[in-house]
Amino acid sequence: MARKEWQRTQYCGELTENFDGQQVTLDGWVQRTRNLGGVIFVWLRDRTGLVQVVFSPETCDAETFAVGESLRGEYVVSITGEVALRAEKDVTDKLKTGRIEVIAKKAVLLNAAATPPIYIDDNADENELVRLKYRYLDLRKPKMQENLRLRAKVLSTIRRHMDECGFTEVETPILSKSTPEGARDYLVPSRVRPGEFYALPQSPQIYKQLLMLAGFDKYYQVARCFRDEDSRADRQPEFTQLDMEMSFVEPEDIQKVVEGAFAKVFKAVKNIDIPLPLPRMTWRQAMDDYGSDKPDTRFGMKLQDVTDVTRECGFGVFENAVSVRGLNAEGVSAHLSRKEIDALGELAKTYHVKGLAWLTIAPDGTVKSSFAKFMKEDKLEALKQAMNAKPGDALFFAADRPNVACTALGQVRLAIGKKFDLIDQTKYNLFWVTEFPLLEWDDEENRFVAMHHPFTSAMEEDEQYMETDPGRVRAKAYDLVMNGIEMGSGSIRIHRADKQAQMFKLIGLSPEVAQQRFGFLLDAFKYGAPPHGGFAYGIDRFVMILAGGESLRDVIAFPKDKSAYCQMMGTPSTVDPKQLEILKIQPVSEGEQE
Ligand code: AMO
Ligand code: AMP
Repeated sequence: MARKEWQRTQYCGELTENFDGQQVTLDGWVQRTRNLGGVIFVWLRDRTGLVQVVFSPETCDAETFAVGESLRGEYVVSITGEVALRAEKDVTDKLKTGRIEVIAKKAVLLNAAATPPIYIDDNADENELVRLKYRYLDLRKPKMQENLRLRAKVLSTIRRHMDECGFTEVETPILSKSTPEGARDYLVPSRVRPGEFYALPQSPQIYKQLLMLAGFDKYYQVARCFRDEDSRADRQPEFTQLDMEMSFVEPEDIQKVVEGAFAKVFKAVKNIDIPLPLPRMTWRQAMDDYGSDKPDTRFGMKLQDVTDVTRECGFGVFENAVSVRGLNAEGVSAHLSRKEIDALGELAKTYHVKGLAWLTIAPDGTVKSSFAKFMKEDKLEALKQAMNAKPGDALFFAADRPNVACTALGQVRLAIGKKFDLIDQTKYNLFWVTEFPLLEWDDEENRFVAMHHPFTSAMEEDEQYMETDPGRVRAKAYDLVMNGIEMGSGSIRIHRADKQAQMFKLIGLSPEVAQQRFGFLLDAFKYGAPPHGGFAYGIDRFVMILAGGESLRDVIAFPKDKSAYCQMMGTPSTVDPKQLEILKIQPVSEGEQE
């Protein structure tokens, strides 16, 4: 097949001094043009970068020059020309190709372009909704291109690792059944079974367990998951997991495969050696020290348990609480206004404590406090000593049930860390959080719910409490945490029907409902289920951190906005009434809604 005259011989960004004197054909988009006294300078862009092309009546024919004159931003053009070294005074480090330029000999205009509604420039500061609406233009930006290429490299590195470790990639259905990951499902109506629905999978959880039953032994998948929950910077309604499952294993076997993949990715994309095995922290320790099950350990400021110190201290709030926890924000008191302290109190309250007690010591030793006046003097001294309080420090206390007090203070810690720039942004702190509780009490529903999911098994040494004190049972469950973000979760699963039934009962699923929703799983367990366990981590979150991004939208080609809406396609959208008729669905009009 003959090559067309407009087909490229080189990419723009690949040209160097070595091409001096050579004829090249380049294809791309016009980044910008400048007409300097009859000589036209065009920056041409393709996926590799920019190069300067020069149109001059002295070096090209009139027809070519006319094409050069007609070029505007984002026009698509093919240019054939000769690579020439720039004069020393014209060398620029603004372009990777700044030592050369291309002297145009021939140009073919392949397509004109309307003035784009956004600048194709990494530094342009546009409204994100406009960027999302014109995503195909936004994706032309070098940073976005880099992010998506980074994502592809992360995925290919992980796939290679999983293949080397002997895993089989298996695709599981998208038209699926509700799986209990804890979010709302996206439903798809059935045409052939009117009134019945598929659910899009929140994860391939049950399928992968069934694959273990089927004897696959080591499964993985780059799996699309769907969850109808409120979007946040690190949550999208549709996201990608690296999902895996293994048979006849303990947590360490699974963790070894996962951390191996993370280490290889860090090496491949950052040239950073991550020492393995990764550190481990129990859930209890994470809560006690950082007030979070996904602690940001890039800075210190650990919480302290001062329950013993505050016994009979005179201050009712402390005396009557199950637990009192403290936080010493060292050296910040002079930079915290009363208003800011009150704002921290409001923040704490959104995490269910009734208040946030505080005490500041100005650099000159002056003490201000919301509770000191209620405390016996010796007890106050003991408290300050326990908190290692010095002039300049700001102390915060929360009194409540341990996990509530810790969680609230953990949020105060994070807010102070951010406000005072205490977080070392160059660090990647990657570690395991282990021994999660199996169950947590849900005040609203007045019952236990599974902390991870109801297929998680208990630690053997805690099984004895399953009936008598379910709240203290720890699970064989573990999370991978990086820089204060939950990267992934996993567990050893229940593989016996009797234990699975016991778990369903504990979380208040009646045998009938359990049978109706998960009968196929309980049935499957009758036919020789191997012990098994697995893990899933968020590819979007991993790439977001590697790309230094703030939002998952930075690393997803076509993301949804904060209200799960696609600005570009306008989805979700209404459909042709005929389609609804076929599905036997009648929309409820406003007035009919409750
Ligand atoms: P889990 O629900 O913890 O576990 O999800 C695993 C990981 O998936 C990522 N993730 C998300 N990423 C972006 N947007 C979201 N809305 C979102 N929700 C979750 C996170 C999270 O850590 N089946 C189990 C895993 C298992 O037990 O093997 C599961 O899905 O990085
Ligand atoms: P009060 O006696 O209600 O004015 O409270 C005195 C101080 O104790 C205020 O700073 C409150 O915010 C704080 N406080 C109230 N409840 C708690 C609590 N559960 N934990 C910590 N501080 C609290």
